Amino acid sequence: MIRPTTVRDESLPGAVTIYEVGPRDGLQNEKAVVPVEVKAEFIGRLVAAGLPVVEATSFVHPRWVPQLADAAELVARLPLDGPTPLPVLVPNERGLDRALAAGVRHVAIFASATETFARKNLNSTLDDQLAMFEPVVARARAAGLDVRAYVSMCFGDPWEGAVATEQVVSVGRRLLDLGASQLSLGDTIGVGTAEHVQALVRAFGEAGTDVGSLAMHFHDTYGQALANAYAALQVGVTTFDASAGGLGGCPYAESATGNLATEDLVWMLDGLGIEHGVDLPSLVATSVWMAEILAKEPASAVVRALR
Ligand code: HMG
Ligand code: MG
Repeated sequence: MIRPTTVRDESLPGAVTIYEVGPRDGLQNEKAVVPVEVKAEFIGRLVAAGLPVVEATSFVHPRWVPQLADAAELVARLPLDGPTPLPVLVPNERGLDRALAAGVRHVAIFASATETFARKNLNSTLDDQLAMFEPVVARARAAGLDVRAYVSMCFGDPWEGAVATEQVVSVGRRLLDLGASQLSLGDTIGVGTAEHVQALVRAFGEAGTDVGSLAMHFHDTYGQALANAYAALQVGVTTFDASAGGLGGCPYAESATGNLATEDLVWMLDGLGIEHGVDLPSLVATSVWMAEILAKEPASAVVRALR
């Protein structure tokens, strides 16, 4: 398999963590509902390909995201005590109860940086969503679970337009103060560009947030996801969310399309000599297999080139 020539830039991080979101962010937005045994095989193949974290599903209201209504059934098929964390989304205490009953060890809450998306995605307000998350984080941590927090609409909102950096930092800091161990900054609709990314990361730094606790979650709607990942590397970010084959989107955000494709990220990291631990041929084979099941062309340029 052809590979990029590695040319190392010592000013960039030497290793990164790829947080795979294909089974959750990818499949939540597919029209086809993928059978539970296929989802379990997908996750197993991603773990076997070396992805160090694989977000498995969501314990949200099944009417809101019917594609992931089988969360409990899926989780029962997964190696929850294995070495690879398999986090799930939980929006509220009801979701946490379901996740705990299923034996989950890692959860993620997801907040909005804007009022409109808090309403559309969580039937809540900016402040009420934080009140909703407070007992979720407290109880999850008391049960020994690891909690990640997302902020959506960090670079723009389809209903409100531009989103102020201070607003994103304020919501993000409140989530960290609740006890989340990692904050994933979501470009839900893919409108961010490179300097905007760096400005946001710097603003968190100025507010006292360690860059090591930040992750970047890019969607590729306007073709900027990889450039934005490179920009984030330049300011020291070392965790990147990505989705195998570029599957993905968000059912409650207009014009949210696929995530940054994991294969495209891996290709760039290989060229930069940045360690990630993922076996590209196995990952490409997995995305080709999933694209056949979904009967669609893979969004990832690297998958299309290598298959
Ligand atoms: P609601 O209708 O306001 O819920 O929805 P409620 O609290 O009023 O409860 C109504 C009923 O739902 C009750 O049942 C609850 O028990 C039940 P009833 O008493 O009527 O029989 N219920 C639940 N059932 C199962 N699981 C639950 C649950 N919660 C309540 N967890 C709610 C509020 C938060 C539940 C809803 O808005 C929801 O599920 N939203 C999730 C939307 C979603 O999953 N969006 C996609 C993920 S976010 C994303 O993709 C962005 C991200 O990728 C980052 C980025 O790109 O920026 C993370
Ligand atoms: Mg997303």
